[in-house]
Amino acid sequence: MAKVYVTRKIPESGINLLREAGHEVKVSDKDGVLTKEELLAELSSESYDAVLCLLTDPINAEIMAAAPQAKIFANYAVGFNNINLADAKAAGVTITNTPGVLTDTVCEFTVALILSVTKRVVEADRFMRAGHYEGWAPELLLGNDLKGKTFGILGAGRIGCGVANAMKNGFGMRVIYYDITRSETLEKQIDCEFRETVEEVLQEADVVSVHVPLLDSTKHLINAERLAMMKPSASLINTSRGPVVDEVALVEALKNGIIRSAGIDVFENEPVMATGLAELDNVTITPHIASASEETRSKMSEIAAQNIIEFLAGRVPPNVVE
Ligand code: GLV
Ligand code: GLV
Repeated sequence: MAKVYVTRKIPESGINLLREAGHEVKVSDKDGVLTKEELLAELSSESYDAVLCLLTDPINAEIMAAAPQAKIFANYAVGFNNINLADAKAAGVTITNTPGVLTDTVCEFTVALILSVTKRVVEADRFMRAGHYEGWAPELLLGNDLKGKTFGILGAGRIGCGVANAMKNGFGMRVIYYDITRSETLEKQIDCEFRETVEEVLQEADVVSVHVPLLDSTKHLINAERLAMMKPSASLINTSRGPVVDEVALVEALKNGIIRSAGIDVFENEPVMATGLAELDNVTITPHIASASEETRSKMSEIAAQNIIEFLAGRVPPNVVE
């Protein structure tokens, strides 16, 4: 039997798996993100053999040293930019994530944002609730069509490809993509065209969706200069990580008609938003919920638990990240 620490309450299914595997599980009883001091205190209060952490927990050498016996930190997320991988390597700690299970959910959510901004759904809802509707009018809240338009993806991983497939086959959009590597398989699968640069995608696409991981090289991938390359009629969607888009520059671009609209699920300094963003009508903003379906969050709980169970049994967990 091993001791597992879980940094915040997550769906029960994974916790049950850990217990069924014979492990003792302690779940933080704070209804919120543990501060660094709280996390250090919790981890050093017992001798834990494994930690299940969240994307809101910054994990570095200091945190790992507080649980010296825990040689696995299983992240409850596909993204793992909250974890210092070099520190983990130095401390001999295995890091895992939860890829795959959330792909379809995030794709569906991304499509929801695309439809929300191009059809102005959320804006129209606010309009109704504010009592502004005075009857049908030919030019009331005009949106844009998707069929025949160009959809651009930046980052053709599982999620990027899934969204491209939905927009191509569900809505008849033409798809172009940029990635650090060209994928002929993808091009055959969904009949899309590769572009050599981010800039080409930005210049050509009517809707651009970002699906890159957060790395030093992708921070502010979308900045003022690149926003200015987009069509004034274009929309930008971000369900990846906030710092990939320069949020202050985005507010300016939305305010000044540099681009038409945006759908944003992630922010540079969560939970804070850039000044002015919330005042704009041409942006749909959601609180980092792209993977938040009942089904998926339970599956993520099970995958994170399974990674720990395998590791503690002396096997290589299925989702090791390096
Ligand atoms: C959510 O943002 C995740 O990375 O799983
Ligand atoms: C996430 O699962 C991705 O690779 O896009």
